[in-house]
Amino acid sequence: MPKAMLVHQNGGPEAFSFEEIKLNAPGPDQVLLKHHAIGVNFIDTYFRSGLYPWKGEFPIIVGAEGSGEVLEVGENVSQFKAGDRVCYTVPHGGYSEQRLINASQLVKLPEDISHETAASIILKGLTAHYLLFRTFEVLKGHTILIHAAAGGVGTLAGQWASHLGATVIGTVSTEEKAAIAKSNGYHHVINYKTENFVERVKEITHGKGVDVVYDSVGQNTYPESLQCLKRLGMWVCFGQSSGLIKNFDLGHLAQHGSLFATRPTLFNYIATREELDQSAAVLFEAIRTGVIKTTIHQRFKLEEAAHVHQLLENRQTKGATVLIP
Ligand SMILES: NC(=O)c1ccc[n+]([C@@H]2O[C@H](COP(=O)([O-])OP(=O)(O)OC[C@H]3O[C@@H](n4cnc5c(N)ncnc54)[C@H](OP(=O)(O)O)[C@@H]3O)[C@@H](O)[C@H]2O)c1
Repeated sequence: MPKAMLVHQNGGPEAFSFEEIKLNAPGPDQVLLKHHAIGVNFIDTYFRSGLYPWKGEFPIIVGAEGSGEVLEVGENVSQFKAGDRVCYTVPHGGYSEQRLINASQLVKLPEDISHETAASIILKGLTAHYLLFRTFEVLKGHTILIHAAAGGVGTLAGQWASHLGATVIGTVSTEEKAAIAKSNGYHHVINYKTENFVERVKEITHGKGVDVVYDSVGQNTYPESLQCLKRLGMWVCFGQSSGLIKNFDLGHLAQHGSLFATRPTLFNYIATREELDQSAAVLFEAIRTGVIKTTIHQRFKLEEAAHVHQLLENRQTKGATVLIP
């Protein structure tokens, strides 16, 4: 029987336990998939801890990014067959040797992209894509701020935004991470542990502020992120690695220059088959042409997921992390 990392009740990383699971044959529209690599993302910690409440039955299997091979297909599945290489991003279910998944959520993996690359980039890269092309369209001449610049999403977004011709400012918490951000497209890097990032952004932009802030840190960078923006600028709050924002005040948007604010999530941007296929095609092309490159800084066995979550939540990871079943 295949094994998976199960969470029987919400808690810290110690909540994981590596156990056998029973999988049925794929039902109508479903595919049975064998994972070759699984991506690790902050969203996995939210489902494990309960920050994102789990409405279904326990145990939970977290994991939102994976790549592998089709073992068997259910009724009505005509677009995939046993042996096909595929990858996906869905909210959970990934920390497993094998899983069932709806065929509508799978993307065919091109031959020239490895399973490890796909598992490290399909969620994070599609996120960087919608943030930079759809939530706010980054153009040549824009100046932008991205927090957690050396992280999984941050390293990809820096490279892509730089390629689009923007001036890219990033924040990080250590000098080692600053060097990583610099090699991932960031023109200016601020250590927000030792420097006042609002003052530094004002200095870098000669008092003007930036066109957009991509903020995944949440509580610890609010409301300062708003103070970094130009008049009519856009605050894109797409995560909460430091905790949920508790003091959001619509009045702050008026106060800091009639700002725009949004709280987007990837799954609303790839809700239709067309959106998923189009965005994945752009992402694969960006990888193929070298516009973005994923660096897997951490590689662990699936059963080491608890240790990986400790590292992620203690800000000790850089770039992407994959689990190998
Ligand atoms: N809405 C969406 O569609 C979407 C999609 C993907 C990811 N996200 C969000 O984007 C963020 C990044 O995800 P990721 O998986 O790529 O993670 P990551 O950036 O690799 O890791 C999170 C980083 O956040 C920074 N951070 C700042 N304060 C922190 C704190 N108190 N605790 C932990 N980390 C802190 C750390 O970088 P420093 O040490 O440099 O500060 C840390 O390395 C997450 O918030 C995630 O939820 C959102």
